[in-house]
Amino acid sequence: MSWLSTTLTSSIGRKLVMGLTGLFLVSFLFVHGIGNLALFKNDGGMAFNAYTVFMTTSPIIRVMEIFLVAGFGFHIYTALTLTNQNKAARPQGYAYKKSSPGVTWFSQNMGTSGMVILVFLILHLINFYAEYHYGIMYDGKIPMVDINMGDHTVNVRNMYEIVKTVFQQQWWVSVLYVGSMVLLGMHLAHGFQSAFKTFGLEHKKYTPAIISIGNVIAVLLPALFASMPLYFLLTGL
Ligand code: HEM
Repeated sequence: MSWLSTTLTSSIGRKLVMGLTGLFLVSFLFVHGIGNLALFKNDGGMAFNAYTVFMTTSPIIRVMEIFLVAGFGFHIYTALTLTNQNKAARPQGYAYKKSSPGVTWFSQNMGTSGMVILVFLILHLINFYAEYHYGIMYDGKIPMVDINMGDHTVNVRNMYEIVKTVFQQQWWVSVLYVGSMVLLGMHLAHGFQSAFKTFGLEHKKYTPAIISIGNVIAVLLPALFASMPLYFLLTGL
């Protein structure tokens, strides 16, 4: 096992962990974003509530959740150790011109955008994940709802009404969501292409395509998430 720990603690090993966990987290965002589209269905929230019940009870999703927590954990831990390793190796910092090719504001501020996304994620989990499981703010204010899951019915917290209420009544939460999504876009724009560079996929034929795909993802995913608070804010006016 020592080759594994040696690889994982080397600079290139850590970059591989960053790239792999980053792409895994992007795949989670796709699933989460597409599932959340049920918020836009004009059915009083039935589809979104059924989706939430499925996501929180399906055994496959529960197993995926372990990978998700590990993915976030490794991504953040490795980012911190890699930064320390780089600082220790080069205490003076890089002597590059800010206008060098490939150096962008995004690439230089991955730590800052990552920190904002982490703060967003903690608030998001308190807002919705903890609310769904433990009912922190809305128990007694928003009635529970019966969801027909085909062969059985479950009585759960009405996440559709909770999401709608949070976005409409706490407008600052909506603003924070939209702002965080801008930083998520910046993080993805650099992170996506950087992961493929680490995997050794740097080629004058493929690199422009990888950068373009990364840019499309970096715009589409955050726009999809930002559209949800914006939708409720605007329809609640
Ligand atoms: C505005 C857009 C979003 C809405 C409406 C939303 C909604 C929700 C809701 C209702 C839950 C709790 C129920 C469940 O586990 O399915 C949840 C969980 C979660 N969300 Fe979001 N979310 C949004 C954006 C995001 C973003 C951008 C991220 C990541 C950067 C994220 C990460 C998570 C995670 C990690 C969980 C826990 C997942 C699990 O335990 O399976 N969400 N979200």
